[in-house]
Amino acid sequence: EPLNLEALKQQAAVRATDLVRSGMRVGLGTGSTAKYAIEEIGRRVGSGELTGIVGVATSEASDVLARQVGIVVEPLDPRPLDIAIDGADEIDPQLDLIKGLGGALLREKLTEIQTGTLVIIADHTKTVAHLGQKAPVPIEIARFGFLSTIERLRAILPGGRLRQPGAQPYVTDNGNYIYDGQLPPEFDPAVLERQLKGTLGVVETGFFLGMATHAFVAAPDGVQEYRR
Ligand code: A5P
Repeated sequence: EPLNLEALKQQAAVRATDLVRSGMRVGLGTGSTAKYAIEEIGRRVGSGELTGIVGVATSEASDVLARQVGIVVEPLDPRPLDIAIDGADEIDPQLDLIKGLGGALLREKLTEIQTGTLVIIADHTKTVAHLGQKAPVPIEIARFGFLSTIERLRAILPGGRLRQPGAQPYVTDNGNYIYDGQLPPEFDPAVLERQLKGTLGVVETGFFLGMATHAFVAAPDGVQEYRR
């Protein structure tokens, strides 16, 4: 990716980190944008600007990075999180999202459902008029019987395929596979989400509907802030 896109991701991440206050329990997202937020939180913890921060990581990778930059990390428990900061693959005007191209959708949803302040950070290439414009919807499925589950999914989303970057299928942190479902030109995300969740073998989908409360979207002419 061009260097300037990286700079934009970082600008969005810094703006989101400005919402973090000392003593907060913070959901830590996953991906190349969330990485900058974790680094910025770590920097502010290291400098003493932020104290008493506890992070809850949405992936093994973010757990490792957070500890490396000096953030105290605890496992997810039933207590609410004060804030969570994460990237997204698509953001629509209602702040509904597609997530999971990085494979962390299940832990992200489990974590981010526990906060009333989900802050999405992205560069401007992630905004869409309607979900499915650019990205497939990642669907985490159980390994056992996955070929049967894929047949059931193909009846709903025919164009999709098992995520398989090399010789073997991609395996999530939870030991599952991912089916990347190709979305039709027009559909109702809430209806499709229910249909997918009702399909035997599906663990979770990458639709994050009604969850995000804030978004910081960085473009070359500045960072745009959106709120639900
Ligand atoms: C991880 O599973 C995803 O939900 C990420 O949040 C998403 O893929 C965004 O990643 P980037 O910031 O790397 O684009």
